[in-house]
Amino acid sequence: MAIREILVVPNPVLKEVSAPVERVDDELRALMDDMLETMYAAPGIGLAAIQVGVPKRVIVMDIARDGEEKQPRFFANPEILWASEETAPYEEGCLSVPEIYDEVERPARVKIRYLDYRGETVEEDAEGLFAVCIQHEMDHLDGVLFIDHLSRLKREQAIKKVKKQAKAA
Ligand code: NI
Repeated sequence: MAIREILVVPNPVLKEVSAPVERVDDELRALMDDMLETMYAAPGIGLAAIQVGVPKRVIVMDIARDGEEKQPRFFANPEILWASEETAPYEEGCLSVPEIYDEVERPARVKIRYLDYRGETVEEDAEGLFAVCIQHEMDHLDGVLFIDHLSRLKREQAIKKVKKQAKAA
């Protein structure tokens, strides 16, 4: 496994639409393993492949709380089969928009379908933080960042702040 570089805004690669994977094989699992290690090291709770510059529809996630046993999860070609009309706000952050947090409103519950680490098709209901995280990560696959859900002013401020941080680093 290897830690990869996480791209940050305004890197144009983050706006790319990722392509579906043909199959989950050892090569793809190696990418998933690298992504998980990169996410844990950041640290973060979710990461999409495009955030490490790979335009494939792949996501890794671990929403276990501090002190709980790790619960790594892998998603290839995730789709939303159903979303609740009820929405819920959550203060989101993103490894590609470091140090910026803001509230985004999304469907409170979703039903998803994806290929897991073994390439098996899984259908699953998501709510709470899992629902927030999978929708946030799936946005990345379509080149959408959580700041794209904010007002233009807030989005521009966020990008300016990240640029400033990068310069100071
Ligand atoms: Ni993100």
